[in-house]
Amino acid sequence: MNGEPIQVLLLETTAAGAAPLENQLDDAGVARFALERVGRAEDAIDRLEKNHVDVVLLHLPPDQALRVLPSVQQRAPSVPVVVLTDEENESAAVQAVRGGAQDYLIRSKTDARTLAHGLRYAIERKRAEEALQKSEAFYHSLVESLPQNIFRKDLLGRFTFGNGRFCKEIGKSLDQIVEKTDFDFFPADLAAKYRADDQGVIESGKAFEVIEEHVTPVGEKLYVQVIKTPVHDAAGNLIGTQGIFWDVSERFRSEEQLKQAYADLAAKEAELLETMKLLKASHEELIQAQLQLIQAEKLESVGRLAAGVAHEVKNPLAILLMGLDYLAEAETREPAADQDVMRAMRDAVYRADVIVRGLVDFSANRRLDAIPQDLNAMIQRSLLLVKHELVGAHVAAIPELAEDLPPVLLDPTKIQQVFVNLFMNAIQAMPRGGTLTVRTRARRLQSVERDEGSRSAERFRAGDRVVIAEVEDTGTGIPPDKLVKVFDPFFTTKPTGRGTGLGLTVTRKIVELHHGVVSIANRDGGGARVTLMFKAHGSESHAIQREPAQAQAHPGR
Ligand SMILES: Nc1ncnc2c1ncn2[C@@H]1O[C@H](COP(=O)(O)OP(=O)(O)OP(=O)(O)O)[C@@H](O)[C@H]1O
Ligand SMILES: [Mg+2]
Repeated sequence: MNGEPIQVLLLETTAAGAAPLENQLDDAGVARFALERVGRAEDAIDRLEKNHVDVVLLHLPPDQALRVLPSVQQRAPSVPVVVLTDEENESAAVQAVRGGAQDYLIRSKTDARTLAHGLRYAIERKRAEEALQKSEAFYHSLVESLPQNIFRKDLLGRFTFGNGRFCKEIGKSLDQIVEKTDFDFFPADLAAKYRADDQGVIESGKAFEVIEEHVTPVGEKLYVQVIKTPVHDAAGNLIGTQGIFWDVSERFRSEEQLKQAYADLAAKEAELLETMKLLKASHEELIQAQLQLIQAEKLESVGRLAAGVAHEVKNPLAILLMGLDYLAEAETREPAADQDVMRAMRDAVYRADVIVRGLVDFSANRRLDAIPQDLNAMIQRSLLLVKHELVGAHVAAIPELAEDLPPVLLDPTKIQQVFVNLFMNAIQAMPRGGTLTVRTRARRLQSVERDEGSRSAERFRAGDRVVIAEVEDTGTGIPPDKLVKVFDPFFTTKPTGRGTGLGLTVTRKIVELHHGVVSIANRDGGGARVTLMFKAHGSESHAIQREPAQAQAHPGR
């Protein structure tokens, strides 16, 4: 009973009735009431505009009460109205409550306490209603102003609500949507999918979220993010589903593009790796082929050299035979002559041995086995191998070999193969005889000369100590237009059976395996000059390239 009294505005046509009511209310002990009576509806409205009123009590005959009610409501929509009549009239009561009255009381059945409670409850109910309206207004504005499509359906999939955006999307008014299903608006397969999704939410009781293709009723294809959730009533019973969806086409498409781009990139990378693998394999094959070529070309040279070598061995054998004959004739022998014959026989054995050993070395198939070597010794041994060819062609060999040549990392058999090739070319270029000069020297590079070819620039730096060998002849020389071709595989100017055109190809390959360079040029005075250049051992920065281990495992190949 504490606090401010409840302000009651009583509209009662006769003043006589007012006093008892006021007294009764106060006596009821429910709350304190401040009752103010007006006799006319206009006064009541006037009064409502002026001061605060908590509740309006219309003590009027039913028909009058129904007439006054709307104008009171209109003037003060937030003030509760209670109708009190002397006569019972069910339809008037219903009408009054529909018209917004909080309560309809019959005077004869209402004691002071009931009336006091009625007035209080009317105020509380009105407040609750107001709050509810306010929160409904809040949710309504939220649902309508969000940039999302929102709808609700009952358990059978019939729409119970759709916000303005959703109605616009469907192209129908809310009235046209309510009670309808997805089958009324979308193609059957799409509607069936939506229905199945709803069913999933209903059965699981859980939210469902997906990005899916959506076709608007006008046929536009979109990608939408959809969230569907179950809807429960106040008692917690499942009554349907609600969905919210929005257009994410742009984001979805750019994500898809990004995914595609990543996939493309991954595919390209895999392709690249595959290509690199193939490239590596074919590089290995190339090395193998090159080594096989070197070997094949060498065997061919061995064949060509065999006749000469046989001749070289035949002489010592003849000397041995003569020596043996002499030794067999015991009677004619003299001790001093014995010594000479035996020395000649030993020399013959040594010569034959050197030649045979050289040929065996030359034809042996070994991996590239570079060890520090004296280039001069390599040249001497090679000259010995072609000695017969030199004699036969009336070619004089003049070695001009520098003393104190620094060692070079070389594979002896392969370097001998190089010199045999070069000497054979020189001999074959001098059909009427001539001079073969082999020169060696060492020097420190001041700069990398361009005329030695771009290959020099790749392999040598200014300041490198190098060993140079030159093979010069006084032969035909090389026609200028052929100069660029002589290193090409199978380029030959020689008749079939005499040349295959692989000598210089293989020579260049072997020299490059040693990180050296080879070049060929015509000499001013006629004939050709081949120049080889290697790094002196100790100044090289490259490790010598080795044949693959495979070649080692199969020496027969
Ligand atoms: N010293 C040289 N003088 C003149 N021409 C040469 C000389 N060296 C090479 N050539 C030319 O270069 C060509 C190619 O030489 P290469 O050694 O590669 O093959 P080839 O001597 O013809 O045959 P192969 O060496 O395989 O038996 C020769 O056919 C020849 O025309
Ligand atoms: Mg040749």
